[in-house]
Amino acid sequence: MGPRINPSILAADFANLERDVARISTADFVHVDVMDNHFVPNLTFGLQMVSRLQEVSPLPLDVHLMISDVDRWASGYAKTGAASVTFHAEATERPVELARELRALGSRAGIALKPGSSAEPYLDLLTEFDQVLVMTVEPGFGGQSFMPETMPKLAQVRQAISAAGVDVWLQVDGGVDLSTIEIARDAGADTFVAGSAVYRGDDPASNIAALRAAASGHTH
Ligand code: DX5
Ligand code: ZN
Repeated sequence: MGPRINPSILAADFANLERDVARISTADFVHVDVMDNHFVPNLTFGLQMVSRLQEVSPLPLDVHLMISDVDRWASGYAKTGAASVTFHAEATERPVELARELRALGSRAGIALKPGSSAEPYLDLLTEFDQVLVMTVEPGFGGQSFMPETMPKLAQVRQAISAAGVDVWLQVDGGVDLSTIEIARDAGADTFVAGSAVYRGDDPASNIAALRAAASGHTH
């Protein structure tokens, strides 16, 4: 399996989301950043919009919940038919139970870690998750710079995934572009979220192709 490229529609035109998801149909998943202006200091969209997006998207949804009350809301996103729902470890006291709920609803279950959060408590629980998201910026906004200091944690999670022999996807999100994607790949990421780097310019499909090539280790 090659690298997965998941464009973030945080960088799309919110008045033209159907058009802008159609423009990324060569990617793997649509990354959907849900923010509640509480867990992060920014507000995007909620369940009703994601539910409608699910109906028009040519690609499966990779929902990233940057919200506080995940115990209340996460299962609703799985019920929309989203292929993957990722919640932040910092937002729940019961990550394993929540992941089991999501899986029972037919969704993949992901756990996300802010740059300052340790992966340690979760390394023995990897069978409970389908994806670990190591944030490479502070969550809340697109267009920020990649934080290379998160790479030791990424490598630590990769090592734990390999040691456990489990099929858990390892995702990075934030500041991923043509230069930083190789750093993340070398540290062990296999799933790459990119907002600005996909939607910049007028040809998202060629941006996706370039990112995919760089993540695969081919520069030509
Ligand atoms: C940040 C979001 C990211 C964001 C990435 O909180 O989780 O998904 O859209 O945007 P870029 O790729 O522009 O850093
Ligand atoms: Zn995100």
